[in-house]
Amino acid sequence: MRILFIGDIFGRPGRTIVKDRLPGLVKDHSIDLIIANGENSAAGFGITPPLAEELFDLGIDVITTGNHVWDKREIIEYFESADGNPHSPAKRLLRPANYASGLPGWGVYEGKKNDVAYAVINLQGRVFMVANDDPFRVVDELLKNIKAKIVFVDIHAEATSEKVSMGWYLDGRVTAVVGTHTHIPTADERVLPGGTAHITDVGMTGPYDSVIGVKKELVIARFLNNMPARFEAASGDVRLCAVVVDCNEITGHAHSIERVIVR
Ligand SMILES: [Fe+2]
Ligand SMILES: [Fe+2]
Repeated sequence: MRILFIGDIFGRPGRTIVKDRLPGLVKDHSIDLIIANGENSAAGFGITPPLAEELFDLGIDVITTGNHVWDKREIIEYFESADGNPHSPAKRLLRPANYASGLPGWGVYEGKKNDVAYAVINLQGRVFMVANDDPFRVVDELLKNIKAKIVFVDIHAEATSEKVSMGWYLDGRVTAVVGTHTHIPTADERVLPGGTAHITDVGMTGPYDSVIGVKKELVIARFLNNMPARFEAASGDVRLCAVVVDCNEITGHAHSIERVIVR
């Protein structure tokens, strides 16, 4: 199975490049399954139900998120709208699994693509981020109940050390552990010895003439003055950052991970 994972889709520029380039990527890389982090889809801050549906309509199978998941409050109703159908779009939108139990939404999706079972897990780091439950112990618990061999993990975290640690911690137990959140692609993609594909950060899908997606003047002013300012999405130098993971359907182990950046 060949899996495409698209890094944090940022605002309209990010959504547009996904719409324009996804069909070609799917064809060129013989992609079977598409996962994307959508936490910044709504002008950089959160995701709305219509935007989630728009991404699903493009062929994305599962959407992960992160710390921006609650920015658009409508998403809570979307989570709550999930009916008995375990494969409805609302079930295929994830928030980090290690948020406090009882919150709306969920951090795991289990489905099938081309008759092959797979699972996606969304986690969030705790270093320089809000104090969530321990993602390491939470993922141990989640894995006890997952039957699929193909398990894809998005670790949404600030610290490279935490994302690399999660890769080694899950090596041999899942197909891939990819980092998101910092919006800067890292050049360390590799298959770890146990067969788990890893990259510290996939990078953002959005405008790079910016500071991690936001108009650069606004962020520089924040550093200079520490005054509150409304952050707005930038628009120039749009890139799509993703990885392609090729894995064995029987064992779930990764054969390869390739970084893909298109403009
Ligand atoms: Fe993000
Ligand atoms: Fe984030």
